Amino acid sequence: MSKDKPIGIFDSGVGGTSIWKEIHHLLPLEHTIYLADSANAPYGEKPPEEIVRLSVKNTEKLLDMGAKIIVVACNTATTNAIVHLRTSYNIPFIGIEPAIKPAALQTRAKCIGILATKGTLSSTLFAKASDLYSKDNKIVEVVGKGLVQKIEQGQKDAPVVQGMLSQLLEPMVKAGIDYLVLGCSHYPYLIPTLKKILPPHVQIIDSGMAVAKQTRVVLQSLDLLTAEQQKIPEFFSNGDPEILRNIIPAPQNSFKVSFMDF
Ligand code: SIN
Repeated sequence: MSKDKPIGIFDSGVGGTSIWKEIHHLLPLEHTIYLADSANAPYGEKPPEEIVRLSVKNTEKLLDMGAKIIVVACNTATTNAIVHLRTSYNIPFIGIEPAIKPAALQTRAKCIGILATKGTLSSTLFAKASDLYSKDNKIVEVVGKGLVQKIEQGQKDAPVVQGMLSQLLEPMVKAGIDYLVLGCSHYPYLIPTLKKILPPHVQIIDSGMAVAKQTRVVLQSLDLLTAEQQKIPEFFSNGDPEILRNIIPAPQNSFKVSFMDF
């Protein structure tokens, strides 16, 4: 495998660009290819076998495009499909799991909130992680119903989202959380609104930086880190590429966005 091949990243839609940002920041020489499966978003309400099927489809496309490693920048796809992907393909996969561990280690209130999709919260992988930390802590799980759709429609800052979040967070605030774990790669785009709603002492944790560091560790261990500046990042959407373009957290002329049917 050549070191100059791209890092492939996929998500159910535009939200995984929050993970891409951290990878690009940590590994700026690498060529990154991002697939937004917006035509099939959200994954969070789909049955596990459908999530596996879509994850395989995205993986095949990234392999066709020459990916040397694949980052599953979607919590729902990670928790439901990564075991299948790792056993089916001879390529490293990096997943994104809700950051329960750092929250559990730091909480003083012994009370943590987790906001994620139904697909993530009902997965076996999530149940294992949650069981591990729920002995010493109260864990308040809430399904972020409707949030991914709003972000996919380019409405992350719409006033209606603030109303939805206030309602969703109410049980967590009442329970006295001091850490909120974002268990969906779309949700970091809601942090400004979340901060307006949550009591100021509540810390918000997402997994982006941890995923980027793990990607670097794995590439390094396989001697697959590039030593030369590669092409500018490329993003592909099978939905509306303008919504993807507008959310990418980077200067507009520093990346390419195209429509692709996949
Ligand atoms: C979704 O597609 O429903 C959310 C993606 C995620 O879980 O990160």
